[in-house]
Amino acid sequence: MSNRMWGGRFASGPAEIMEEINASIGFDKRLAPQDIRGSLAHVAMLGQAGILPADDVAAIEAGLKSVRDEIEAGTFVFKRELEDIHMSVESRLTEIVGMAAGRLHTARSRNDQVATDMKLWVRDTLDSLDQQAADLQRALAEKALTHAETVMPGFTHLQSAQPVTFGHHCLAYVEMLARDRGRFRDARARLNECPLGAAALAGTSFPIDRHATASALGFDRPTANSLDSVADRDFALESLAAASICAVHLSRFAEELVVWTSAQFNFVRLSDGYTTGSSIMPQKRNPDAAELVRAKSGRIIGALTGLLVVMKGLPLAYSKDMQEDKEGTFDALQALSLCLAAMTGMVKDLEPNAAVLSQAAGSGYATATDLADWLVRELGLPFRQAHHVTGRLVGVASAKGVGLEELSLLEMQEAEPRITEAVYAVLGVGNSVASRTSYGGTAPDNVRRQAQGWIERLG
Ligand code: ARG
Repeated sequence: MSNRMWGGRFASGPAEIMEEINASIGFDKRLAPQDIRGSLAHVAMLGQAGILPADDVAAIEAGLKSVRDEIEAGTFVFKRELEDIHMSVESRLTEIVGMAAGRLHTARSRNDQVATDMKLWVRDTLDSLDQQAADLQRALAEKALTHAETVMPGFTHLQSAQPVTFGHHCLAYVEMLARDRGRFRDARARLNECPLGAAALAGTSFPIDRHATASALGFDRPTANSLDSVADRDFALESLAAASICAVHLSRFAEELVVWTSAQFNFVRLSDGYTTGSSIMPQKRNPDAAELVRAKSGRIIGALTGLLVVMKGLPLAYSKDMQEDKEGTFDALQALSLCLAAMTGMVKDLEPNAAVLSQAAGSGYATATDLADWLVRELGLPFRQAHHVTGRLVGVASAKGVGLEELSLLEMQEAEPRITEAVYAVLGVGNSVASRTSYGGTAPDNVRRQAQGWIERLG
């Protein structure tokens, strides 16, 4: 049998494989709520513009609501031969309301319909990702406040660099997430133009009111060019790009958690709720959730790359290639949602191991910069010379296998005769972090103030 929606000029139906490659219903059925919303806005406008008689509008509206109820109740039967969600809804609508259903598609095409549905779905998803990212920021800011004074090693090249506070490290991610949220909101603002009414590609000869449908669906305005309306998926690309960057941030943090929970580091403890055991090694507490957050960035980046490649060679306007925008976009944005939720859970429960962190913060000559700064500040040495003197002292200490603070004053004075007892005060990690009071620095007072500011702003 040829397709009821477009089969007029076809004598026979599609080959089995044609049907299989062509159908998107398996994955676009999740657009049912958006599709019905769009159709309700469209039919109401057709009525208001005098394009459809009021009784047809009423029948179609009632019918669309019954279809929505059936889908929500799970009684709707999706059939592959109906290809996609748009034709599935219309076909069921025809069964319910009869001939009048055929008028719904006046002044519209599946091309503007699918672009509208996707925008509505992506828009809702961006809104909820923004909220989820805010939840994670809140959890991190609260951890930061509790651990504003907990010292830990700060790293560059994963080598001990300078002591920082655990709270400061948490707030670094709060900042990244703030930019991620900004990107979600930018993408949302840019996508918020309604393609409905662009029809197949050229617009329509019916006197439609695109401003009415745009505002009924919560868009800021209709899209200005009918070809562009149906031909681009940059809103999905931009959202996937924002999602990829956020996923990369989460992945880096996840990687840190994996390293930090290892027996060798023992920096933090994840809760039982976010670790798993091994079926053979009873001692194990594996950070699976963190590992999976790290891994899922792969599929999110993959979806962005995949869709970029799908789009790159397409002439205007619509091509069926664009049906391939869906699975990757759905999958990636959902994966990010799960990652944000898992991260929030892990952060809320995790406990830094303060004693280990403090010990590690002092090892690896992490206060060498403090010594060099002291030589500059107190003795007026140029920084390069202070660097040199400090380097010599680190060499002496390291040859003896001791920390800088364990060198005697005499040993210090061999490198620089003017060094006094007062130098020892800056060699402790607590003093080191407390002295980093420059704006954005790791001093506990700074961290406390910033964490409190975030908690207030996040509400
Ligand atoms: N299922 C299609 C998609 O997702 C809907 C648009 C079909 N348009 C067409 N001209 N065949 O892209």
